[in-house]
Amino acid sequence: MVILSQGRFPEILYIDGFAGPGEYQGGGPGSPMIALDTALAFRPPLKAKLHFLFVEARTDRAEYLRQLVASRELPANVSVIIEGGITFDAAFAARYGSYQRQGRLMPTFAFIDPFGWTGAPFSVVERILSQRSCEVFVNFMYEEINRFIGHPDQVDNFNSFFGTEEWKKCVSELFPRERNRCLHDLYLRQLRSCAKFVRSFETSNKSDVTDYFLFYATNELLGLRKMKEAMWKVDEGGEFRFSDATDPYQAVLFEKAPDFAALRSQMLGEFSGKDAEIRDIEQFVLVQTAFRETHYKGILKTIEREGGLRALNPSRGRRLGTFADPDMLVQFK
Ligand SMILES: C[S@@+](CC[C@H](N)C(=O)[O-])C[C@H]1O[C@@H](n2cnc3c(N)ncnc32)[C@H](O)[C@@H]1O
Repeated sequence: MVILSQGRFPEILYIDGFAGPGEYQGGGPGSPMIALDTALAFRPPLKAKLHFLFVEARTDRAEYLRQLVASRELPANVSVIIEGGITFDAAFAARYGSYQRQGRLMPTFAFIDPFGWTGAPFSVVERILSQRSCEVFVNFMYEEINRFIGHPDQVDNFNSFFGTEEWKKCVSELFPRERNRCLHDLYLRQLRSCAKFVRSFETSNKSDVTDYFLFYATNELLGLRKMKEAMWKVDEGGEFRFSDATDPYQAVLFEKAPDFAALRSQMLGEFSGKDAEIRDIEQFVLVQTAFRETHYKGILKTIEREGGLRALNPSRGRRLGTFADPDMLVQFK
């Protein structure tokens, strides 16, 4: 929100399509209130017009959320619409026109957090991603999906959720890990067919069983950078493990001390024997690996110290081991 509202966009939209009541039974804040309160607390106050659309199918939950929102003082540039007793796709379709400017959906972040798979059609995800500066964050409830995937009553719902019938191939995968990857990879492919950058994050419990995946899809590299920054902060080593699960052969656990050896070998796998600009190396790390832009420079420094690379066009006065200039070309042995 901060980035978009400081940029060229006078209005932006945050959607929580499965908002819940805004508060957990234990009293912790629910996702719509976290988003709203974070925006309200930002200093200096955000100047753009901020639209929040919260949808909750159950009227009692929507009413609870309405009361919570009413307890907040909303500045003139913040508008919150709570749609209760209606499904996300119906509410989005009905409201779509009012969030369009010059024929386009305003920059949107849509959080899609269903209990399972119903009510989150892929066609809606696709519609959002087809617009400039719009992105989605989907909670893919693997455990529930896996439990019901072979259920004959659910065929239409799964067709709608995946936006294809290909999920049927996964049902015949008998080994849990293969089925898990089959369903995960299908959703990943579907998102990649409509967004430039997609990554998935996995939470698994102590027995290493997948609980859910979070899929993030965006067309902006900066969005990906910011999402990774947030994700790497999350894992505190608690009840569950949290990892980047985009590539099954490179699953990386988010830990306080990242696995630099894994990143180093991926970087060398990509660049050994080649010349590359720092900008390309950064793009590779961000897009193709689980790691962040803050992780790779230390590795370059070590490789340079070991004599494994040299800077081809360093700026005058460059100190060894520094890679601040995105235009600098380096040669890997
Ligand atoms: C997993 S909970 C959401 C929790 C919330 N995102 C949070 O973190 O605080 C899913 C919510 O979506 C509601 N729901 C179920 N189907 C829906 C649909 N098709 N459209 C909108 N809301 C729906 C449920 O009543 C439930 O409150």
